[in-house]
Amino acid sequence: MNQDRLVAAAREAAGNAFAPYSRFRVGAALLCRDGTIITGANVENRSYSMTMCAERSAIFAAVSSGARDFEAIAIAGVDSEDPLPPCGACRQVMSEFMNPTAPIIFSGRSEEIIVSCIAEALPFDSLQDLDQFQAPGAP
Ligand code: THU
Repeated sequence: MNQDRLVAAAREAAGNAFAPYSRFRVGAALLCRDGTIITGANVENRSYSMTMCAERSAIFAAVSSGARDFEAIAIAGVDSEDPLPPCGACRQVMSEFMNPTAPIIFSGRSEEIIVSCIAEALPFDSLQDLDQFQAPGAP
């Protein structure tokens, strides 16, 4: 996987953001198993809660076009100095389509990049995870 290429695609996609309310543009780029890259951007609404994040825009566009097998996703918050992590709703949607260890790449305006994955970003997500979970102090 060419991480730099995926981050560059996410940054470019942020150019399509519709973010007049937050002025916080985000792009996402999904790498499909066949090498195709599908992008998304955040799309806001004057009824604020109708806003859609870049990550889910990309995933929904990809699945709607027939792609389901994703190797990695890059997120670019071009108005953020620091690498931008996905929100909880996007983590949940990613977990539906991405392997627990598939790279999730956070980026911002700077050169710094953070690489995580669903296993780390959304723990105790599957029944298998729950099975292994031992609550602190449980009998
Ligand atoms: N946003 C995303 O698109 N992805 C993220 O990971 C975090 C936040 C968008 C939603 C909203 O349009 C703007 O950024 C401010 O929260």
